[in-house]
Amino acid sequence: MTAFPERRLRRLRATPALRRLVAEHDLTPRRLVLPVFVKEGIDAPQPIASMPGVAQHPLDGLPAVVEAAAAAGLGGVMLFGVPEHRDAVGSGATAQDGILNRAIAVAARAAAGRLTVQADLCLDEFTDHGHCGLLAADGSVDNDATLEVYGRMAVAQAAAGADILGLSGMMDGQVAAVRAALDAAGRTDVALLAYAAKYASAFYGPFRDAVESTLDGDRRTYQLDAANGREGVQEALVDADEGADIVMVKPAGPYLDVLARVAEVSPVPVWAYQVSGEYALVEHAAAAGLIDRDRAIAETLIGIRRAGAETILTYWAIEVAQRLRGGEESA
Ligand code: PBG
Repeated sequence: MTAFPERRLRRLRATPALRRLVAEHDLTPRRLVLPVFVKEGIDAPQPIASMPGVAQHPLDGLPAVVEAAAAAGLGGVMLFGVPEHRDAVGSGATAQDGILNRAIAVAARAAAGRLTVQADLCLDEFTDHGHCGLLAADGSVDNDATLEVYGRMAVAQAAAGADILGLSGMMDGQVAAVRAALDAAGRTDVALLAYAAKYASAFYGPFRDAVESTLDGDRRTYQLDAANGREGVQEALVDADEGADIVMVKPAGPYLDVLARVAEVSPVPVWAYQVSGEYALVEHAAAAGLIDRDRAIAETLIGIRRAGAETILTYWAIEVAQRLRGGEESA
């Protein structure tokens, strides 16, 4: 005679030890990557108002950031450059002494093989119009002309010492073009992380502050439309086919369904970028006393893992990794 109810799913939730034993997913420091902003011409970290706790760093402050990331056991750092001068063709991106390329070299030296150095490969921080590519005479973003610049930017980033290049510009054919340029330069060793399913998103708002973006208008002619899930999967498959070593979905939280669908079919590792707006929402809500900050952070990250991301770019990477290392089961 069985007592009602017959199925007692609460059994495995009864104690911390049971819950720990049966947890399906977890976070580990090696699965976290820290985005880092390096700004030309400053001599002390500059806080980013829209992202409490995140700063722009001077070049000579970068070794300490990389050191902290390595000590926390992170999988890597993703570098963004904020140049002093911008022009129509984004010259600072391809110049070997441009701020991002210098930052890569400094980070690579500091990392000394303990974690990977990754670099954003896109023109938006370097163009005076703020678009991710070159503009045609009619003001539209010229896809194919941009590919040639991306190829040169990739070779410069590889020469500076980047291990992985993050292709975030959403131009068609960018993975194949960059792969071909690197291979022609003898850099078959440098890996490509394709921001494959990158959506046109309001959640990039705080980032635009962080890189002092000059964009007037939007990126809807090249970034994906929020309404389209199937197209995100298609982008990931095309990028993998073009030679992407890793594909990424971005933003993460509002696109967990896309992440899950990509993870199901991708032949290469799948990552997610928890973007600036996702960070800011939690930080500002916590500052207002509305949510438990640390639990909310952990929940967003495990949700992204559960949806299928193997690795996550997050502004909380060091803090969370330190908590994990301190022996807390869930960050
Ligand atoms: C493009 C780039 C963007 C982000 C990363 N790479 C901005 C954009 O496409 O508008 C956003 C990251 C974030 O919001 O945290 N270089």
